Amino acid sequence: MSHTKLKHNRIGVLTSGGDCAGLNAAIRAVTYRAINEHGLTVVGIYEGTAGLLDRPMKFEELTLKIFTGNILRLGGTILGTVNKGDPYEYPMPDGTTKDRSSEVIAGFRALNLDALIGIGGDGSMRILSRLAEQGSIPFIGIPKTIDNDVAHSDYSIGYLTAVDTAVNALDRLQPTAASHRRVMLLEVMGRDVGWIAVAAAIAGGADVVLIPEIPIDMEKVGDKLRGLFALGHNHSLVVCAEGIRLSSGEPVSHAFADGEVRYGGVGAAVGESIARMTGAETRVTVLGHVQRGGSPNAFDRILASSLGAYAVDILCEGKTNRVVVSERGKIVDVALDDVAGQTRALKVDGTLITTARQMGICLGD
Ligand code: F6P
Repeated sequence: MSHTKLKHNRIGVLTSGGDCAGLNAAIRAVTYRAINEHGLTVVGIYEGTAGLLDRPMKFEELTLKIFTGNILRLGGTILGTVNKGDPYEYPMPDGTTKDRSSEVIAGFRALNLDALIGIGGDGSMRILSRLAEQGSIPFIGIPKTIDNDVAHSDYSIGYLTAVDTAVNALDRLQPTAASHRRVMLLEVMGRDVGWIAVAAAIAGGADVVLIPEIPIDMEKVGDKLRGLFALGHNHSLVVCAEGIRLSSGEPVSHAFADGEVRYGGVGAAVGESIARMTGAETRVTVLGHVQRGGSPNAFDRILASSLGAYAVDILCEGKTNRVVVSERGKIVDVALDDVAGQTRALKVDGTLITTARQMGICLGD
């Protein structure tokens, strides 16, 4: 049970970046495996790296008592998370930024931790890999993001639950579209990629899907919809990813009060253009953070359990700077450097886009 590779038999776990469904299932898996199989103490660090940066630090020992049945099912993360406050460019009250990475590393040391498991997306992996290298911290990453854009990871935790939510929205939009002879446009998340959009379009029976990976010709979208109406269709479903570029080449984004620029709202312009080109009454629904919350589906619970347990096992084997992924149907680990800061876009000749085309879905090209 005890570990020659780990001096104090204590590991830390944190969630970082935007939340998604399945994070608690992953935290639970890490805790179960670490305690039951390896006899370790697990320290949950609150709010990502902020938990190690703040003084007093924010953390709590995770025991089996905490996981009393409902945590597996819960959306969000019991540890909290942040998707700003990069310790390398930490925003200071006077508007400047400061490198506070050494304070995070000092916090990690003060907790007597041997190693860290970070559950995060591509941006978090980039920051955590830098911290791990700088502080010589044994680190294992677990990919999560509804965007599903982590390199080497066929399915990131949270992705398929978000797809289910988008499909559910299309299931609700279709009857009202048909009743009113309308085009219903659903804008889904996906900052740089169209994974949610294309999967939802196939499973939700959409006629058009627009994604950042494929330059859009709105004339083609107009032709597609007019063609369907000519065939007798009285309504249509269109899906677009929030990160698509309009003719200006720029995504539609807004600077929020906190200074962060976020996407969202491009659907309004696309809907407007569809209405103009086709004469069809068009309505737009922006699904937004509904895709991030909620209970994880069975797939995400299973994936989170497999990745969490595997992460602990390889840490105890002495592996470090690895990311555990589900790749080609297997749980494997890959080098952190091959994942950190990379974006996995949809391949235009990949299965998902091919299937969409085979179903007659127009991709705007
Ligand atoms: O990266 C995941 C994601 O959900 C994106 O799809 C979306 O653009 C972004 O996070 C929203 O982030 P925030 O939580 O800051 O609104």
